[in-house]
Amino acid sequence: MPASSPRGLSILGSTGSVGTQTLEVAALFPERFVIHGLTAGSNVDLLAEQARRVRPQCVAIADASKAATLRDRLADTAVEVLAGADGLREVATLDAADLVMGAVVGFAGLPPVLAALRAGKDVALANKETLVVAGALVTEAQRAHGAHVLPVDSEHSAIFQCLTGEDDATVERIVLTASGGPFRTRDPKTFSAITPAEALDHPNWSMGSKITIDSATLMNKGLEVIEARWLFDLAPDAIDVLVHPQSIIHSMVAFSDGSMKAQLGVPDMKVPIQYALSYPERWPAPHERLDWTTIAALDFEPPNTDAFPCLRLAYDALRAGGTAPAVLNAANEVAVALFLDEAIGFMDIPRAVEEALQALAAPETPRDLDTLRAADAAARRHVKELLLPA
Ligand SMILES: NC(=O)c1ccc[n+]([C@@H]2O[C@H](COP(=O)([O-])OP(=O)(O)OC[C@H]3O[C@@H](n4cnc5c(N)ncnc54)[C@H](OP(=O)(O)O)[C@@H]3O)[C@@H](O)[C@H]2O)c1
Repeated sequence: MPASSPRGLSILGSTGSVGTQTLEVAALFPERFVIHGLTAGSNVDLLAEQARRVRPQCVAIADASKAATLRDRLADTAVEVLAGADGLREVATLDAADLVMGAVVGFAGLPPVLAALRAGKDVALANKETLVVAGALVTEAQRAHGAHVLPVDSEHSAIFQCLTGEDDATVERIVLTASGGPFRTRDPKTFSAITPAEALDHPNWSMGSKITIDSATLMNKGLEVIEARWLFDLAPDAIDVLVHPQSIIHSMVAFSDGSMKAQLGVPDMKVPIQYALSYPERWPAPHERLDWTTIAALDFEPPNTDAFPCLRLAYDALRAGGTAPAVLNAANEVAVALFLDEAIGFMDIPRAVEEALQALAAPETPRDLDTLRAADAAARRHVKELLLPA
């Protein structure tokens, strides 16, 4: 039992895959956390059920048209119901919470995370799009307000754990591992026939639909490369990607003396979620252990960027800088949503991203959220016009 008082926690995106697992982890340590705020996009049923269970000070639903229903569901409780982007920002900056889990998917997760950092709160960050789109702004907000970003993505948590106790100046390069997704061994000539159901069938991880499609195109690894650049202040050339189909090694760091450190475990997001919440401590927990007797081999191969161009496009956007990462992200979000709606094919995703980058990426580094919003909106319009011509 800890001697210190419990930490105040708010969870942005509590109804999603990372959000629900964050609640599961927090429930293992009831004496360590008080949950003050929860948010969802539109899932009233689950948000109301979670609010009745954990009794936060307030909840916010991004889809304001659902707020009245949510208020009805919680009318017999003291839980305050907020709505829209302002509601999410309010939850992200509640006085009582000093730690915020950023687990909204997509660009929508950026404004509340930035608000939390600017209010001096530590952020456990799952939402990789935040760092992809606004790495410079997030880094500046951290420095200016004495806040910390704690990685939740399993690869970045692995790097973070390998770096603990090390001098950053001794890091030569990092290696982000990638499962390769469900189409690693499929003939690329058949990629245009891939259906959403096939792409949603990830071999190792159970995740939300957007990140699962990103894993199938390898855009997820590309977004992680950009995320790593900001989290660990590394040049693009110092970030490698290695396909490792078993997802046992979560990532590695190579040091200047020739040593490498790796972090290993079963693919279970509750482990990196817990590390972000417990850092700098480690807390005992009943998560599944790695059983070496069941692992026949650990395999590795280079990524195939001809078959999966999204990874190459992400490196290109990182090297180009300016608005390129924001354009890459927005184009990808729109294309993935259209693919999930069966409106476009699998290979239209990289085509749309490449087109948008060529047409729109500008070299000036965006210095504020409004510039990023404009780049995001322009890329969304462009991709819709490209893929769904009138
Ligand atoms: N899942 C994983 O294992 C994993 C691992 C590493 C990193 N990540 C990253 O973590 C983030 C969340 O992933 P996930 O898999 O948990 O996604 P998810 O299951 O789709 O959940 C997304 C969450 O965001 C909410 N949301 C969706 N659109 C929103 C909007 N416009 N405004 C406000 N809230 C909105 C959703 O609410 P509703 O439920 O109401 O739609 C839900 O709470 C992503 O950036 C992903 O890349 C995920």
